[in-house]
This record gives sequence, structure tokens and C-alpha cells, in this order.
Amino acid sequence: MRRDSTKEGLLKGHDDDGYRNSFDNEGRDSSDLDATEFLDPISIESKQTGRRLRRWSIRQPFSGCGRCCIILLTVVFAVWVVVAAGGAFVYKKYNDEPEYGRSPPWYPTPQGGIASTWAESYKKAAKMVEKMTLAEKVNITTGTGWQMGLAVGTNAPAVYVGFPQLQLQDGPLGIRFADNITAFPAGITVGATWNRQLMYARGKAHAIEAHGKGVNVLLGPCVGPLGRMPAGGRNWEGFGADPYLQGVAGAETVKGIQSEGIMATIKHFVANEQEHFRQPWEWGLPHALSANIDDRTLHELYAWPFGDAVKAGVASVMCSYNMVNNSYSCGNSKLLNGILKDELGFQGFVMSDWLAQRSGVGTALAGLDMTMPGDGLKWGNGDSLWGPHLSRAVLNGSVPLERLNDMVTRIVAAWYQLGQDDETKFPRQPPNFSSWTNDRLGLPSHGSPSPQDKVEVNKFVNVQANHSIIAREVAAEGTVLLKNENLLPISREGLEAARLKTRRDIVYRATGKRHEGKFKVGIFGDDAGEGSGPNYCKDRGCNQGTLGSGWGSGAVEFPYLVAPVNALRREFDSNKVELHEYLRDDLPSGSSDKAAIEELELCIVFVNADSGEGFTKWNDVSGDRPNLNLQKNGDALVGSVAATCGSGSSDVIVVIHAVGPVLVEKWIELPNIKAVLLANLPGEESGDALADVLFGDTNPSGHLPYTMGKSLEDYGPGAKVMYLPNGVVPQQDFSEGLYIDYRYFDKHGIEPRLEFGFGLSYTTFEFSNIKVSPKKTKSALPAPRPDPAAKPPSYSSEIPSVDEVLFPAGFRALKKYVYPYLNSADEIVSRPYPYPDGYTTAQPLSGAGGDEGGNPDLWEVYVTVTVDIKNAGTRAGAVVPQLYLAYPGKQGVDFPVNVLRGFDKIYLEKGETRSVSFDLTRRDLSYWDVVEQNWVMLTEGEYTFSVGESSRILKVVGKW
Ligand code: BGC
Ligand code: BGC
Repeated sequence: MRRDSTKEGLLKGHDDDGYRNSFDNEGRDSSDLDATEFLDPISIESKQTGRRLRRWSIRQPFSGCGRCCIILLTVVFAVWVVVAAGGAFVYKKYNDEPEYGRSPPWYPTPQGGIASTWAESYKKAAKMVEKMTLAEKVNITTGTGWQMGLAVGTNAPAVYVGFPQLQLQDGPLGIRFADNITAFPAGITVGATWNRQLMYARGKAHAIEAHGKGVNVLLGPCVGPLGRMPAGGRNWEGFGADPYLQGVAGAETVKGIQSEGIMATIKHFVANEQEHFRQPWEWGLPHALSANIDDRTLHELYAWPFGDAVKAGVASVMCSYNMVNNSYSCGNSKLLNGILKDELGFQGFVMSDWLAQRSGVGTALAGLDMTMPGDGLKWGNGDSLWGPHLSRAVLNGSVPLERLNDMVTRIVAAWYQLGQDDETKFPRQPPNFSSWTNDRLGLPSHGSPSPQDKVEVNKFVNVQANHSIIAREVAAEGTVLLKNENLLPISREGLEAARLKTRRDIVYRATGKRHEGKFKVGIFGDDAGEGSGPNYCKDRGCNQGTLGSGWGSGAVEFPYLVAPVNALRREFDSNKVELHEYLRDDLPSGSSDKAAIEELELCIVFVNADSGEGFTKWNDVSGDRPNLNLQKNGDALVGSVAATCGSGSSDVIVVIHAVGPVLVEKWIELPNIKAVLLANLPGEESGDALADVLFGDTNPSGHLPYTMGKSLEDYGPGAKVMYLPNGVVPQQDFSEGLYIDYRYFDKHGIEPRLEFGFGLSYTTFEFSNIKVSPKKTKSALPAPRPDPAAKPPSYSSEIPSVDEVLFPAGFRALKKYVYPYLNSADEIVSRPYPYPDGYTTAQPLSGAGGDEGGNPDLWEVYVTVTVDIKNAGTRAGAVVPQLYLAYPGKQGVDFPVNVLRGFDKIYLEKGETRSVSFDLTRRDLSYWDVVEQNWVMLTEGEYTFSVGESSRILKVVGKW
């Protein structure tokens, strides 16, 4: 194989992989005209400086042309100049392409099999892998191509040794593209519950459904994007804009999923913070953007939650589309070999996001273990970067056999680790649903144009069990009460008699009309209703009807979606309450409607904001939101309802469904807006869960998993999505470092509308009696890295015979399907292979590593903080105590004002007091020291632990 030796092996101009950079000098497209080519240069003197300047003048060939014609030509010319100048500018930018691979090299890939927790699985895997042919090994690492199986991703089996084809399916909120499944609330709603048990339970239920549908690997949970940019399109798939919250929620979800024997995938590693320019060509550019992150920020923010998932035993990590420090994540040896596999001691396998692999040999060396969906640089063309190329690369030594063996062993070990070798639980069958058709019969390889017989692909197996209960609990507990001025909870009969009388008196004074009939409630907004049905747009890629989830691969086909209006119709006592429904985004203009609205005694307005994955757009929402405004005329709708409901004197409740923070400044302080609920993305049980909270069956206990600012500007310059590229490889510098979301607001003393962690209840809580109990003495560095608890398997180093990868005689290949086979032995050329720069430099093993999840000392508890909490209000409810840590200062090191380092959720009866404790580990107490290249605890000065109900409502303080 021929290649040039860029550091990370990013294959610029790499023949074998068919990769062409069409914007480099040589490959310049003839349509890229230089503005100067059509102009006549004349030289003129600059009057001031006397220097000779170059200016341009037009030749004058149009002397016979009339005035009109000249004007027209001038206009045409002017337009042309502007376009050409733009082209020249862009061309210049494209030639300023940054050097690839600025991320430091880290080779070779640490082998899996060092952790005691995985030792048995590696032993079993070694026995199986040792018997595999080269073709079988390649099969296991390479997807068969887009739409070649029934799931969104399938590799190929190693039939003779008994390793099945794995079925990989999205996504984080349910089984994508499947029938009879549960549409769980999205990650952001789960984060808003702050309830570890529910995080676990949702993961477990999700996995039970995966199992029932024949899925081996779930493509979730998602902890990246982290939420650097509040308008980022996919933030809602994760759990909130804080690494600790993401880490806990991600780890609990992984544990829940894997308790059922399903492999979880933590994604997207790392820094896929926005959709614009996330991958080549999708946004017109030949490259993805590069997220440029410094070492400390990477450790303390973006990689942090992945550490929790690895510690929890996650089977798989999905590397992201974007580049990090100008090297594609899936070919970034520092990230995959260095941080993930050495420092974090990851024992499972790294899988590429769909087409995130951008080079063949380079990614193998950098630590990628499985490529998905198997196609190469383009969707569905069957031209894999691995498959036959990997076979050949192993035969000619450009990918060391040892590396291939490690890839395969990691995948097979993960399969054993989850117990999927047990055929009674995991029969070797394709999934019982197809991602590509809803019909019973369908093609086994939908993506191949080769003739095939239809088979039964959809068996319509119902796997929902009673999971709607969990879905409803998560949705209810994930609903955040943002404002409540003595209004909620309301009664199913309207208002109690005394309150009703007062209210009617007020309305009477405002309108001059009195009525003694039923209590009149108005419901407003398209978001309250069913719209055209929950699955109206493909992949949920539009905002219509009530918003239950964002869009993209993280969304599912709703089996049903309880629209809020349906639940309210059912729950309000129709003998006492008269409902008026205006399921539209503005007020009706007819005079009778107007009169009716003026008589309403309570109005509930539904508004929302949607976003999703960048492969599809809705209006001006191209994946990422264009701003933080409510969509579908939301602000105006709330404003006009507030002004008109009971002629502006009746109470208004606003319900928000949203993918992330929205601006509420235009109306939140209006006097008759008495209550605001943020129901996040509630999934199928939307209306039921909302009713639970509105009527007080569930006392709200959701808390904000992000900051709600008063403007996007308030989040800082780093919080803005890059909507226009700043180069051929857009450079996104994470120069705000650690200061995102509440860390930014705190550092700059900015008043948010509502702070991270905020959430009201129908009761009140008192915090007292904080105790700080040291468990171990402070010391700067963790204990020395332990020796590996187990030894990675070793295999024969003899290069297998080429016969192992020749197309078997009489083999009928499907078009576009990715096979491991070569046509003939001649394809193999053996030349000295130039490994990437830095390949032979031995890397020091990380002092932060040594076991699954890193150095075990990092997970030791060093101090415990306990606090007493009393329910001092009038009804039972759950409290979310949150612990924020302030580091002691250290010369030359900047620390955030506070960082979340503990939370819990505790249910307290009225009057009950309980004590809650927070264990702080060495990692929790440390910062990443870039010189030490390790987590460092501060031994001088005092740590401050503040415990309260939000990042700004801190009620008790302890020191250590
Ligand atoms: C998404 C992943 C998803 C994959 C498979 C990609 O476009 O980024 O999150 O798992 O597709 O559908
Ligand atoms: C597919 C998704 C995939 C996405 C990636 C879409 O066409 O439906 O599964 O995640 O492309 O961009």
C-alpha cells in the first residue's frame, strides 16, 4: 500500500482508499475561477505613498452598446465580481488548510486483556480467536455495508468457530426503526430526574426490548455532545451540560443495559458538540470540523463521562465524526490508544460512528477495532476501507497481525463478557424486525441491488412489557417546575370553591361578565395536540404536534404518544370543567372565539423547541438550532394568551417541551403567568406524566440539567454554534476551556434566568448538620499505577496464508456487500511500510491508568460528606440534594468557582428528616495536571463542599 506519512496516517491523496482531496492545489476544480483571470491589470501610483499599487480596470469592448445594455452589463459584472471575489476568498481559505494530525502520536495500541474484571472473557475469546481464519477475523471487524443486514449495523460472523453476526441498533431512547417498542423519554429528561435508580431502570428496560428484538449491541447511551453549545442539535440525546451528571447517568444506563446481557455503546468519543460540519461532505466541505481542545479541558470535561462508562464496564465506545486537534477521532491515536485504552484501561472495542472512519491502515493503527457500517468514505457504495483492504494490509504487514488479533479479541471478549455466548438466551438469529421496511416480507440485504428473494423480516414481536410505567415515571420526575406562584397543583375539578370564588370576582371585575357554570379551562398550542401523528416525519425530523423527542438516529417510531390534550381531557372532571381547545400556534381571530377566550378562568399554553441530527433539517433548524428561541411562534402565543385569557386576569400555566435551554425572557415575569413547567422530551407517556405533575399525583422533583440563560450571549463566546465554516477544515477552538454552562456564568458573575440544578417542588426542604468525614489522607498523586492484573492473550505471529482470504470457489457475491475476500493472490504487494510519525516512539504508560477505568486509586473514596434534610412543607416529595466542590486555590492554576461532585434523590414524607451522604473519590477531588500528566489532589488549603438544591441555592457548607 502506498501512503504518505502524515502523523496520524490520515490518508491525504491515498490511492488505495480512493480518497481524493478535491480542494488541494493539484486537484483544484476548473470551476474554482480566480477573480484575476478575467481582468486587465494596470498600474497606478498611490497619491499618498507614491508606491505602485495594482488596480483593475475593465476593457472597453462595448462601444456600440446602448445605455440600458451597459447598465445591465455593469450589474452583471458587479455580481460576477462579488461572486468571484468570494470564490477567491474561499479558495484562499481552502489553501490555508491546517496540517493534519496535530494531535500527538500514541502507538502502538495497548492490547485488551489486562483487567481482572475481563480476564475470564479474554481467556475464552483467545481460545476462539486462535482458531479463526484471516477472513473470519476481518469479518468480525468490518460491517457488511449500509442496509446489508436488518439492523443499522451488522458485522459478519465467524461461522466455523461459532461467532455470530452481531446486530447493532440505535439508539439512546429506544429501539430505532422497530415496531411494538417503548419510546422512552430522551436522555435530557433522564438527566433532569437526577434519579440514579430511574437511570438504571430505563437502561435495563431498554435492553430487555433490545433482547426481545434480537439486538446484540445498543448504540447508546450518549454522553457526547456534552452541551458546550446550548443550541447544539444533539444535546438532548445526552443527560445535561455537566460532566459529572453525564458520567453518573451514562454509567447507570450502561449498568442497566448490560445487566440484561446487551452490549452498551457509549458515544460519541469525543467533542462532537455541534452538527454543522460534523462529517465530510454532509455540509459541502470535504472535511469535518476539528474540535481543538487542550489536555486539561479534555480530561475534566469531555472525556470525563467516558471514564465513568469504562469504569462501569461498557462493552463498546463509538468514536465521533469530527476531528479532535486536527486528527479524525476514529484515527486519533492519542485519543484511542493513549487516553481510552491506556489511561482509561478500556477493555472493550472501539466502533466508528457511521462513516466516521476516514482512513484504512491509519485507523487500525490508531486503535479503531470495528468499522461501521462497513462502507468506506461514501454511504452505501460497498467500497470499504477495511474488509478486503484489511485482509491485504495484514498480509503485507502494513497492519500488524497483532493489531488485528487485538481488534478481534476485544470484540469477542465483549461478547463473552455479556454472556452472549449462551445460545439459550441469545439464539443465533437475525433480528425479528427490519430497519428498512414495515412489511412482513423484505429483503435480507436491502442495500444490495443484487436480486434476492424476500423473506419474513418483520415478526412484529411486542417487547413493551410494562415499560410504559418506567417511561411515565422518568417523564414525570424529569419535569422541572420553573415557576409556581401558588397555583399548582391544580384540581381535576378546577379550583376549590373558595379560590374559584375569588377568581371569578377578579374575572368579573375585568370583563364585567359573571357566570356560575363549569370552570372554563383553555388549552393552547399545536404542541398540546396530536398534530398529524407522532411519526409524521421521517426520523421525527420536523416539529409538529406535541414534541416527544428530538430527531435523528436517537429517535424511534412512537408506538403511541399520549398528547397532553388527550390526558387533560380524560383527567379533568367534565361535570365540573369545560375545556376549550385551541391547538394552533396563534389565537383564533373570530369574534366568538375571542369572546370565549376572554371568559376563560385558567389557560394552559404549550410551546416548544426542537432540534436533531444534522442529516436532516426542519425550517431553519439544520440539526443545530439557529438560536434559543421558542419555535412555532411560541413567545407570541404565550404573550397573547396571557393578554387575552380572562381578559388578561386569569391564571396562565406555560408548559415547555424542549431539546435544551430556551429563552423565556419575553414573558416569564408577566403577572398572570403563575406557573411554568419544563417537561423536556417526555417520550410516549407525555400527557400522562404531565397530568401526574399538574394534578399533584407526583410532586415535581426534576431539576435543570443545564443553565437557562437570559440570552445566548450570556453563555459566552464558546457557546455559539459555528454555522459558517472558517476554513476547509473548520477550526473550532474550545478556548473557553473548563468554562461552559454554569461554570461560565459563575466565573463571570452572570445572572442566569434559572441556574443549573434548579427545580421547585410542591413542598420545601431544610438542610442542616453538614459533616465532613475524611476516609484517607490527602496526597497529591494517586498510588503508583498497578501492574496489569492479567496478561493479554498471545497468538502465533505467523502471517496467515493468502488462501484464507481468497473468494471461496463458486461464491455468489452480493453487489455492494462488504466481504473480507480478495480476488487473487497478485493483489498482494509487499513493500517496506512507512508507519505514521511517532509510531516507533515508546509511550510512557499513564500514571492515571492501570485498570479498567484507570488507576484504581482514582476511584477510592477520600472523604464523605453527610447532610440532614427535612421535608418542612405540607406534602410528601423528593428532594435532589446536590454537592458542589470548590478547590483550594493553587498558584498558576485556574479553578471553576464550583463543580458538581455529588447528587442524590430522596423521597421524604411530610415532616420526615433523613441523612444523605456523598462519597468523594480521588478523581472527584483532583484536577488534571498537564505537567504531571496525572490527576492531582490539592494537599494545601481547604476544599469547600456546598450542598443545596441548585448550583446557586447552596444551603450548608463544609470544609476539608
Ligand atoms: C449517528 C450515531 C448512530 C449511527 C447509526 C450516526 O449518524 O451519529 O449516533 O448511532 O448513525 O445510525
Ligand atoms: C440514516 C441514519 C444515519 C445518518 C447519518 C441517515 O440517512 O438514516 O441512520 O445515522 O444518515 O448521517
